[in-house]
Amino acid sequence: MNRDRVLTGIRANGVPHIGNYLGAMLPMVEIQRRHGESHDMFFFVPDLHSFTTPVDHGTLYEHTIRNLKYFVAAGMDFWAPGVYLYRQSYIPAHAELTWILDCFTYFGEASRMTQFKDKSGGQELGTGNSGVSVGLFNYPVLMAADILLYNAKYVPVGDDQKQHIELARDLALRLNNKFTDVFPDGVFTTVPEDWSKQLAFAKRDSGVRIRSLRNPEKKMSKSVEDPAGTITMTDDPASAAKKVMGATTDSLGSVNFDWQKQPGVTNLLQMLALLSERTIDEVVSRWQGKTNYGELKQAVAEAVEKFLREFQTRVSEVDEQKLLQKLQEDEAAISKIAGQTLLRAQQAVGLRPRA
Ligand code: ADP
Ligand code: TRP
Repeated sequence: MNRDRVLTGIRANGVPHIGNYLGAMLPMVEIQRRHGESHDMFFFVPDLHSFTTPVDHGTLYEHTIRNLKYFVAAGMDFWAPGVYLYRQSYIPAHAELTWILDCFTYFGEASRMTQFKDKSGGQELGTGNSGVSVGLFNYPVLMAADILLYNAKYVPVGDDQKQHIELARDLALRLNNKFTDVFPDGVFTTVPEDWSKQLAFAKRDSGVRIRSLRNPEKKMSKSVEDPAGTITMTDDPASAAKKVMGATTDSLGSVNFDWQKQPGVTNLLQMLALLSERTIDEVVSRWQGKTNYGELKQAVAEAVEKFLREFQTRVSEVDEQKLLQKLQEDEAAISKIAGQTLLRAQQAVGLRPRA
């Protein structure tokens, strides 16, 4: 197996919304379509990452499996040749390599990670505030282990993950340089590409950001208490259509694609384009200058309703046993790959006899 490897995590927290679908699931399907034939694809559920912030532990396992079904319904082919599908927590090497990497990660560099700062609400560890876990702080090191264990070259993720990719790269280079006497070709035989090459690989343009239907200045988000502004993938299709009809727009009275002046209308145009697989230009040229917002809402509502109905049918048709079997087979196969890398790291640091 010496094809370049693409690796990415498929998050499983909570019920995904249509923003997650359009902004994260569809781009992943696109990546498989473009690179699946020439690369090995490692798709995994970062379930150990799921509770770095509080979650409902009673439903976590169920969500893991259900979200994988969503990816199948969105068009991922997990059964294509060269695809591995697995759950992080089923491969103990992730946690073991994390510990080794932890001891080569500087406290200062981990403290600079913006995701940690954002999600911890600016509260630092050790200040007596008990709400922020050490797990959240350690999140990027576990992510580096996820990547380095499999010697992945490309790691398609959103902009918010840029620093984490850079950390994985820095750690790989740091250990490779430190232990050249043990492994002249590197403890990690592949170092992930830098951010500009990652972007070029994923061919990401401006990145889709679906806004809340109620507060179009804000992104649609499951973390925000905004049920009327958020369409989840489990919403009843007819109620989802109603949410679209109630979307906040503006009083300018003319349809234009302009995120600054008309974010509500622009959000609707964006959703319509993505759901109907047309370009923004095509959709804009059809609606530009129209004065009746109701008509536009109607068109989006119909597109959303149709999409959700079809999507939910596809989800219900996914064969769960087949999915579980794929997970179990790949977890067995992939433990060997992970084990080889872990052994190299253990040998390098002196936990195992050097060959
Ligand atoms: P949330 O903010 O709803 O909790 P997550 O942080 O779990 O979402 O994000 C999961 C994935 O979905 C990420 O890749 C993120 O970029 C994408 N995503 C989240 N919200 C949106 C949105 N409103 N529009 C487009 N993509 C989004
Ligand atoms: N942190 C990623 C996210 O929030 C998920 C993730 C965990 C991941 N480990 C990874 C992505 C390794 C790519 C590679 O989207």
